[in-house]
Formats: sequence, structure tokens, C-alpha cells
Amino acid sequence: MQGGGFYNRNSALQAANLGSALPLLVAAAGEVPADGAIIGIADYGVSQGRNSMAPVAAAIDTLRPRIGPDRPIVVSHVDLPSNDFGSLFTLIDEDPVSYLAGRAQVYPNAIGRSHFGEVLPHGSVDLGWSSNALHWMSRNPCPVPDHGWGVFSADPAVRDAIDAQLDADWANFLQARSREMRGGARLICQFMGRGPDSHGFEWMANAFWQSWVDTADAGLLTHAELARISAPSAGRSVAQIEAPFRDGRVSGLSLVDLAVVQAPDPYWAAFEQSGDAAQLGRVWADMMRAANGPSFAAALDPGRDRAAVLDAVTERLAARIAADPQQNRSYNVILVIEAVVAG
Ligand SMILES: C[S@@+](CC[C@H](N)C(=O)[O-])C[C@H]1O[C@@H](n2cnc3c(N)ncnc32)[C@H](O)[C@@H]1O
Repeated sequence: MQGGGFYNRNSALQAANLGSALPLLVAAAGEVPADGAIIGIADYGVSQGRNSMAPVAAAIDTLRPRIGPDRPIVVSHVDLPSNDFGSLFTLIDEDPVSYLAGRAQVYPNAIGRSHFGEVLPHGSVDLGWSSNALHWMSRNPCPVPDHGWGVFSADPAVRDAIDAQLDADWANFLQARSREMRGGARLICQFMGRGPDSHGFEWMANAFWQSWVDTADAGLLTHAELARISAPSAGRSVAQIEAPFRDGRVSGLSLVDLAVVQAPDPYWAAFEQSGDAAQLGRVWADMMRAANGPSFAAALDPGRDRAAVLDAVTERLAARIAADPQQNRSYNVILVIEAVVAG
């Protein structure tokens, strides 16, 4: 994600995405055993944290009457080492939306390590949460010369490699969580899914990629740099999510709830009110830059002025959307996983 708090300021779409998972988190907070001396909440893929404030606050407010005023709650925010943890802790300390505001005995901490491995002590997590993060893969499995996302490549071998990576990452994520979660603990995840007939997100993915192609055609980056671009993200289907539970790669966890739903498009709803196509272009372009700019720009030559290229791409994308406003069609996975209580 783009640092300096830019993702925090341009992630209203992600905030809307997680809305339908929130009631599941609150329900879980009301039902997990929560019988340890310290209660552990884990937040996998926090980024700069704005979108975690309301979910964590809601979880604490549900847990607190159950556990009494004195039991400490440790909130562990997990993200990659490159994450802008400074913006996260500034928000937690200073912003009125912080879950610390008005809540005692709550201890935030951060872990700068990949959630595809174990990051917390065994049996220390009572409640897990992950929003808008698990469609990011641990790596690009192969070069993707013809698109910014392998899942949209015309080459079936590329798409197969993406599916294999998604599968391996998902199994690794679950195996790590199966050790971290206490018996009876629950994990609620929301991330990009795949629809029944199409992946979803095609309109915006193609518009963003085409804006990079146009920027290369205009000479602001080379076609060799363009060919290196590949963002390691893709949605998963229901079958892909169920696979590690079905084939025995994951034990100690059960998938208790799973739905793939059409994602909201708050930008389109605002456009329908205002009719302001230029504004629609700006919000989409800034969001795409915030969420995908760094992984695209990572392919640029070392001496390249990345900010200038991103400015040019963002401007082109905003103009492209303003010229042909559309409603985005993409899909969200919402799921609940429970750690089996040892018998
Ligand atoms: C789109 S942001 C989502 C942020 C926030 N949870 C939200 O709902 O808006 C995705 C985040 O997942 C993080 N992420 C991607 N791969 C990860 C990994 N392997 N381990 C931990 N975090 C990861 C990214 O660095 C990024 O900050």
C-alpha cells in the first residue's frame, strides 16, 4: 500500500467491503470462550489501520462486558515489514476513531512479518480478523507480460500458476492460524473472491492496466518495465477456499460459514447522487494508486522517478473513468473459521 497515510485516506471502498463481515465479528466476540488470563485479538493485513478501528472497537465492546473490566486485551496488528506502521500507531494514539479512545486495558502491538507463517504464540488468539488482505499472494509465481494481474492474463499457464500460488498461500495461512488460535477461537475474513461466471473486477483491472500501457506508449516508462509489472493479487472461488479443508491439509480448524457476495461500489452510489464523473474518476484513481501503485511501481527501473510515473498513470486512469463511468462488479469472500476445542 502507498505509505504516508495515503492508503488510510483512499480506502473507502475497502471500508465498504468489510461492512458485511462486521456482524460476524461481533457475533464471534459474543461467543468465543474468552477464558484465558489475556484475551488476544489478531488483525491480519492491517495496512495503516483506519479500516481496523471500527472492527476492533466493536469486538472489544462485545468482549468487555463478558470478561470484566480488568482483563487485558492485546490487539496484534500484522503486516509485512515494508508496511507504514508509523501511520498506524499515530492513528491509534491520536485519532478520535482509535479503538483506544474510552477503552481501558487494551494493548496494541504490531508484527512486521508475513501472515503466511506463524506470527503469534501457540494458542494465544481468541478472535482473528482479516479484511481486504488475503487476496494478496506471498509472491508472483511467474512473469506476466500481458497484464498487470496474472489472473487476467490470456495465457492459461499463467492463470494456472496463479491458482497454484493462491492455493499454497491459503493452506499456509490456515496451518499457521490453526496453531495460533485457542480452542473455540474464531477468525473472520473478508477478501476478494471470484464470481460464478467471471472473476470480477475486470473493468477496473483493465482500465488500470491500460493506463500503464498508455503511459508507456507516451514514453514515461519502457515497454520492458511494463512487461515486468505484475501485482500479486487475485480472488479465490468457493471451491478454492474449501480445498484445504476438504483434502486434509488443514486440521484443527473448521469452516463454519462461507459466502461469496457481490461487492458494494460506494463510488458508484456517490456518482449516482452527484452525477460528477470527474470526481468518480479521481476517487477510483486515488484508490487504485493507494492499493496497487507500489506493487506496480516495484517493476520500474531503479533510477526511474516512480512518483512521476504514478502521477501520470493516476491522471490517465481518472480521465479514462470520467469518460466512461461504470459500476464496478467484483466479489467479496466472507468467512468464519473456528478452532476445534481439543477433546
Ligand atoms: C488492501 S490492504 C487492507 C488493509 C485493511 N485491512 C483494510 O481492510 O483496509 C492489504 C494489506 O495486506 C497486507 N499484506 C499483504 N500480504 C501480506 C502478508 N503476507 N502478511 C501480512 N500482511 C500482508 C498488505 O501489506 C496491505 O497492507
